[in-house]
Amino acid sequence: MIIFLIGFMGSGKTTLGKRLARKLGYEFVDMDYYIENKEGMKVSEIFEAKGESYFRELERSFLESLETDRELVIGTGGGAPCHGHNMDIMNTKGVTVYLKMSPVSLASRLGKARNIRPLIAGLEEWQLRDFIEDKLREREIFYNKARCIIKGENVKPHHVISLVFGEEN
Ligand code: S3P
Repeated sequence: MIIFLIGFMGSGKTTLGKRLARKLGYEFVDMDYYIENKEGMKVSEIFEAKGESYFRELERSFLESLETDRELVIGTGGGAPCHGHNMDIMNTKGVTVYLKMSPVSLASRLGKARNIRPLIAGLEEWQLRDFIEDKLREREIFYNKARCIIKGENVKPHHVISLVFGEEN
């Protein structure tokens, strides 16, 4: 089975994904990291050199290429569910789990890690909160198509496991 963790930048997809994969004995794949390795460039460099639409195409082709008989936890990029038919692809290939977080929590996490994320790199602290609120409003239309939705603030792997498999592990 493939478990896709989706959600806004800073919602903890990578941290939770690694722990979840370890607990399940699945492999963890960070989508951004996979793309960076394949392209030999950081996400921010891809945005700068080739543009966002090129990056979105890489995300789509990664999702298209996934074989469904794998045991994977995938930490998706925050924008991946919101482009093309990516939500449909993920819902067909596996189980999507949306780590839902408030703009306040996201702003406090993202404040510290702005520079590696091209969409927010140039923002001042006071602009970040507005950006998150606006972007989240747009993106939740897609995120809410997830099979499972869970509050991201204090989520633990066993919470996801019981949601996805319907039992406490
Ligand atoms: C993006 C989120 C990033 C990365 C890229 C674009 C977005 O991933 O894919 O910077 O559009 O929200 P994280 O959600 O892992 O930060």
